[in-house]
Amino acid sequence: MINHKKIRQAILFFALSLFVSLAVWIFASEPPISPATPPKIPTKSVTQPQIDVTNLSDRTKWYQVNPNPYSISPQVNQLCADPTQLRPENDPHANKAITVFVNPIGRDAMMSPKSTPFPIGSIIVKKKVDPRSLEDVALLYTVMIKHQPSFNPKAGGWEFAVVSGDTQKTQVRGTLTNCMGCHLSQRQNDYVFRTYLPK
Ligand code: HEC
Repeated sequence: MINHKKIRQAILFFALSLFVSLAVWIFASEPPISPATPPKIPTKSVTQPQIDVTNLSDRTKWYQVNPNPYSISPQVNQLCADPTQLRPENDPHANKAITVFVNPIGRDAMMSPKSTPFPIGSIIVKKKVDPRSLEDVALLYTVMIKHQPSFNPKAGGWEFAVVSGDTQKTQVRGTLTNCMGCHLSQRQNDYVFRTYLPK
């Protein structure tokens, strides 16, 4: 004879144990809460790769645009510089001199008698020196790197940068508005002055 009561009890017991083991399984699979490991917040990379100006005398990598140092005015000297380090020079009448270098990609555009747009990948380095010093010691390098137009739509894709005189530190780089303040005036010439070109 079938014992209905026993069957009901068995079903109830089965259902209960299923429920309990399910609950245990769910709780056990929860990740452990450990205050020692802070949550991972995705951060935007802010690395600024160093710009290499250590081998400007290597003729396979760089072309020297002006054979003799070109003297620049104290005003340009102060402003064509690191915007975070702007300060009056110790001697405002001491003109600085520059030598400009261009990489092989930008060489033709730099040397062409008529102004032509620089190809993507062109790099121009302006090395600033103190003309009174007998040794060829760089005070600072200002750099322009040509990217896709979308990198800097306001200035033809050019990136601007400042590298320390010892070549070891890229002090600032990007679409620097203070640099563009002057270089935008050269819109017709792809934002490049080329005043130092040998006549
Ligand atoms: C006060 C205006 C002025 C500002 C601001 C300025 N420049 Fe210039 N820059 C010039 C002039 C003028 C030349 C032409 C050479 C010269 O007289 O030094 C030049 C030349 C250059 C050159 C050589 C290519 C060219 O245009 O002929 C580079 C590279 C350069 N500047 C980078 C920079 C960077 C990087 C900044 C910002 C940190 C900057 N400049 C800010 C005026 C300026």
